Amino acid sequence: MDAIRKILITGASGFVGSRAVEALQTGYELLTPSHKELDVTDAANVDSYIAAARPDAILHLAAISDTGYCEEHPDESYQANVLSVENLAMAAEKYGAKLVWFSSDQVYNGNIELGLLPEDVTVSPENHYGRHKLLAEQRALELCPGSVALRATWMFDAERPGMRTHRNFVINFRNAIENGTPLRFATREFRGITWIGDVVRNIPFTFDLPGGVYNFGAENTFNTYETAAEYARLQGLDPDTIVIPDTVRFAEHIRNISISMDKAHKASNGKINFPTTLEGLAAYIS
Ligand SMILES: NC(=O)c1ccc[n+]([C@@H]2O[C@H](COP(=O)([O-])OP(=O)(O)OC[C@H]3O[C@@H](n4cnc5c(N)ncnc54)[C@H](OP(=O)(O)O)[C@@H]3O)[C@@H](O)[C@H]2O)c1
Repeated sequence: MDAIRKILITGASGFVGSRAVEALQTGYELLTPSHKELDVTDAANVDSYIAAARPDAILHLAAISDTGYCEEHPDESYQANVLSVENLAMAAEKYGAKLVWFSSDQVYNGNIELGLLPEDVTVSPENHYGRHKLLAEQRALELCPGSVALRATWMFDAERPGMRTHRNFVINFRNAIENGTPLRFATREFRGITWIGDVVRNIPFTFDLPGGVYNFGAENTFNTYETAAEYARLQGLDPDTIVIPDTVRFAEHIRNISISMDKAHKASNGKINFPTTLEGLAAYIS
């Protein structure tokens, strides 16, 4: 693969996109069209934009990332989360650009086995968002075998001026402390939670990955309640005052979407590295 110099970032105004722009703007020429300038669900628009711009790489972050919204609007989710990936994959293959895009750990949300999950475990997602991300992974690799899908975890950051920030783990927590309203966290859920700074720091190494699907974020062996309780302790708080164990949620079956980072770590010769969720939360506080 030739050196990557010019990168098209879709979804550059979004939570991940705005921080990716900040991290990549030194060292790369970035193309950051707005939704209006480049509608990724429009195949002709995508083809003509990439034909003219000829990026070396495409970081495709435009999507509908709200799982609840996707559940209620499956057609819109299909357009934004499957069709867009197909459009970018076709154009990347046609014009010789490296495609890297964000899938999600939600592809594992039907898994019940414990432990950190590798990419080749059998998956059976239980919601539209997870099913659409999985379908997009399959379509992308059919259309553009060199494309790279990154199964990202739930990410967090504080609000930043000029950047979109969704509610996330640390903001929910801070609001709970300020309002004096304890939060419930599931004891039967296991998931990685990753600081966005660690995500965007690792993105440059993903352009050198061979085509495929890769987990991409923090490993976490603790359940979500234990994770939240430890985050309270890290802030010098008594967990019992702010974190309530929710033993009912996921009562029907354990929900484990915790990822193993072995594949991306090895495929990048150790360059792709994430602290664990608890290490990342500790570093974020300090
Ligand atoms: N946030 C997380 O914790 C998380 C976790 C796992 C995976 N992911 C994945 O990471 C990626 C980025 O997520 P995010 O949280 O940054 O999402 P986000 O904040 O909701 O941003 C989505 C971006 O996509 C753009 N967009 C939506 N539809 C478009 C279209 N048809 N054409 C062009 N642009 C369009 C939006 O622009 P407008 O607002 O102008 O429409 C916005 O810039 C997504 O693939 C998401 O599924 C996110």
